[in-house]
Amino acid sequence: MKRGESIIELDDIELAFGEKIVLSGLSLRIPAGEITCIIGLSGSGKSTTLRLINGLRLPRRGRVIVKGADLCGMAYAELIELRKSIGFAFQFAALFDSLTVGDNVALPLRENMRMNDAQIASTVRETLEMVGLADAIDRLPAELSGGMVKRAGFARAVVTKPEIVLFDEPTSGLDPIVTHLLTKIILDINRRLGATVVVVSHDMQSVYQMADRIALLFEGAIIAEGPVEEIRASDNPIVQQFLQGRDQGPIPL
Ligand SMILES: Nc1ncnc2c1ncn2[C@@H]1O[C@H](COP(=O)(O)OP(=O)(O)OP(=O)(O)O)[C@@H](O)[C@H]1O
Ligand SMILES: [Mg+2]
Repeated sequence: MKRGESIIELDDIELAFGEKIVLSGLSLRIPAGEITCIIGLSGSGKSTTLRLINGLRLPRRGRVIVKGADLCGMAYAELIELRKSIGFAFQFAALFDSLTVGDNVALPLRENMRMNDAQIASTVRETLEMVGLADAIDRLPAELSGGMVKRAGFARAVVTKPEIVLFDEPTSGLDPIVTHLLTKIILDINRRLGATVVVVSHDMQSVYQMADRIALLFEGAIIAEGPVEEIRASDNPIVQQFLQGRDQGPIPL
């Protein structure tokens, strides 16, 4: 897909958990090859929106179109195939505690790719080098710092060189230096793999460093979306309150 074409389209989504409507009238187009950051209040449905993109959740109304195919009503086998082109770095890295970093990162290759052991080993090493974790290949997750766990999660998400990579809160709870490092790694993943990247983040400094576009999720829908400079210059008071992190303004707290 050419850079700039819509690779992901969420169209008039409604999604509820039981009685609770979380997303309503949400529409968003994500251009190929760029970094789109989704921002929004805690609990506003950001993780749920990412899960829609790889079919981990289905909406009760609306369409989720990824690479031209509608996920709703897709046969399970087809969804599994599509997911191979989507990497997901989860909010809580979700590594297997009993596997080394190297084995965690090798898992998607073992499951999805026809590679022999030597090819797997070299791809894992190359990917760990990209995130600066080559030295930790034989360590267990419990022996890593928070930032290293995040990086191992990134490596697992990108080891198959997916076209789309989703990052859920890649820098939350980390110090500013590690945050900066992780932000640079995400930029590198976008540039080196040419991947379309969607990042959910609260960290505005990191968002400004990496985003091509920003989308603001508020009360179930995307209320503003566009190139970073356009969003920063927005005269929407909700957007400005969020960007400036003010407690006074139209957002009910
Ligand atoms: N599996 C679930 N069952 C019931 N309710 C859920 C489930 N997952 C999420 N929710 C609810 O949906 C809403 C949106 O959750 P979501 O995790 O998408 O928000 P978020 O924006 O990612 O929040 P945070 O910033 O805290 O990570 C929340 O009110 C949450 O309680
Ligand atoms: Mg979340």
